[in-house]
Amino acid sequence: MGHWALDDIPWELFDRNKVDPEIVRIVKAASLVEYNGVAYAHHLCRIFNDDPEFQQSARQWGDEEIQHGRALGRWAQLADPGFDFSAAFGRFQAGYQVDFDCDTSRRGSRSGEMLARCMVEVGTSTYYTTLRDAAREPVLKEICHNIAADEIRHYKLFYNNLMRCCERERIGFWRRLRIAAGRVAETGDDELAYAYYAANETTRPYERRRYSRAYAGRACALCREHHVARGLALIFKAVGLNPRGLLTRAASRFSWWLIRYRGTHWRESATEVH
Ligand SMILES: [Fe+2]
Ligand SMILES: [Fe+2]
Repeated sequence: MGHWALDDIPWELFDRNKVDPEIVRIVKAASLVEYNGVAYAHHLCRIFNDDPEFQQSARQWGDEEIQHGRALGRWAQLADPGFDFSAAFGRFQAGYQVDFDCDTSRRGSRSGEMLARCMVEVGTSTYYTTLRDAAREPVLKEICHNIAADEIRHYKLFYNNLMRCCERERIGFWRRLRIAAGRVAETGDDELAYAYYAANETTRPYERRRYSRAYAGRACALCREHHVARGLALIFKAVGLNPRGLLTRAASRFSWWLIRYRGTHWRESATEVH
C-alpha cells in the first residue's frame, strides 16, 4: 500500500485559469518517465535476487513510481485535453529503450547501484519540490507535494540499503564520487529529452540536444537556491561527505550558478520548441 492514492487527489478543484502552459510541457514529459518505473523495479529484483525483503521494497517502489506517472498524466490531460497519455507513452517506449534484462548492475556492484538510485531520487525529490512551489494550479500543487514526499522516502530506502550493502561490499570514496557524478551527468542523456519529445512533439524528428535543453531549461527556470542547497546536501551525504561542510556549500553555489544559467539561456533557446 502506498502513502496516497489517485482518489485522494482533489481533482474537482482543478482550475484552468491557473495552468501554466510551460509547466504542462514538463509535467507531460515527467509522467512518461515515471510510468516507465516498472521496468527498473524488475531490474532491481534481478540484481538483488537473493534478498526477498529488498525485492518487496523494490516492487512497492516501482508501483509508487507508476502511480506518479498516472497522477501526472491525468493532470496533464485535464490541463491539455488534446494530450493522449497512452499514445505518448507508446512513442516514448518505442523510441527510448534501455536493456534492463540482466542480473548485474552497470554500476559494477550492488552498492554502486544503490548510490546511483540515491542520485535519481535526489533529482526527483528536488524536481517535484520545485514544481510544487512553482505551480499555482492547486491540483498540480497537491500531486507534486505527494510525489516529493514519496521521492524523499525512496532516497531513504536506497540510502539505508546502500549502508547495508557497504557492510559486505565496501566501495571507496573516489569510486563513490565517480558513480554519483556519472549518474548526475546522465540526466543529460536521452531519457528526459526523449520523454519531452514524445510528450510534446509529433511532427519534427528527434534531436537530443534540442529536446534536452527544452526540458532542462524549463525545469531549471523554476528552481530556487534553497532547492539546490537541499539536493546537494543529500548527494554529499550519500557519497559519504559532510552534508553541511564547506565543500557542500561551495558545490551548492556552483550548481546554483549552473542552474540559473540553464534556466536563462537554455530556456531562451527553448522557447521556439513546443
Ligand atoms: Fe517518482
Ligand atoms: Fe522515486
